[in-house]
Amino acid sequence: MDGPIGVFDSGVGGLTVARRLLEQLSQEDLLYLADTARLPYGPLPVAQVRQYALEALEFMVERGVKAMVIACNTATAAGLEALKARAAIPVLGVIEPGARATAGLTRGRVGLLATEGTVKSEAYQRRLAELIPGVEVIAQACPKFTPLVESGLDDAVAIQDAVAEYVRPLVRAKVDTIVLGCTHYPLLSRWIQAYAGEEVLVVDPALATVELLEDELRSRGLLRPPGRPGYRQFATTGEVEKFGRVAATILGLPGLQAVRVRLG
Ligand code: DGL
Repeated sequence: MDGPIGVFDSGVGGLTVARRLLEQLSQEDLLYLADTARLPYGPLPVAQVRQYALEALEFMVERGVKAMVIACNTATAAGLEALKARAAIPVLGVIEPGARATAGLTRGRVGLLATEGTVKSEAYQRRLAELIPGVEVIAQACPKFTPLVESGLDDAVAIQDAVAEYVRPLVRAKVDTIVLGCTHYPLLSRWIQAYAGEEVLVVDPALATVELLEDELRSRGLLRPPGRPGYRQFATTGEVEKFGRVAATILGLPGLQAVRVRLG
């Protein structure tokens, strides 16, 4: 029952999963790791992302985490199997819960917004095809999104232009559901929803991920009983002040402090 839950992403995107975790499992301790110095992961070769994810696992294990969530779709696609094979603790990714949540909602035409790495891996396309026979998946890589989110969402014109560029093909293809296949993108969901229109469902895999984590912890006897809030720790390989500022806004935790760490 002891030990924090490790949540890992290339940057602030995984905080969309961490914030659900803090809502649903507030009694758990959280150790968040952002590999900001080496992002974006989206355009990197698969083997390099896998190596970074393995380094994140090592970091987490050294700090005694009891479970790890790879709160990054790109790293999940590239490294989940390798991390599971290496780790003695439970390791979860975001693609399985994201695909399942999408399968429960769509009428058969899914738009996938994700990084180049996740789109190319075809992890969502394959899993959705297994879950929904005959599904049409229209995949769109969105390389401009992560930098816009990392810089604190302060360029509304650039956000609107990028959203129009990436969501237009999905609207033209008449998708009924859009899955946000990168953990940075829920931070853009109000723009994405506004462009796509109200009739299109926009799926953030974060909630399904935290539910899967809760089931996993419970089945292994690792879930803490509800009680007082756990502690929260934030680490980044990049600039601590900038990360802390953006993270504080995303989580609604003013005064959030991060520490700088090295990986590898
Ligand atoms: N947040 C990440 C994801 O879910 C990756 C963003 C990036 O570093 O390119 O894929």
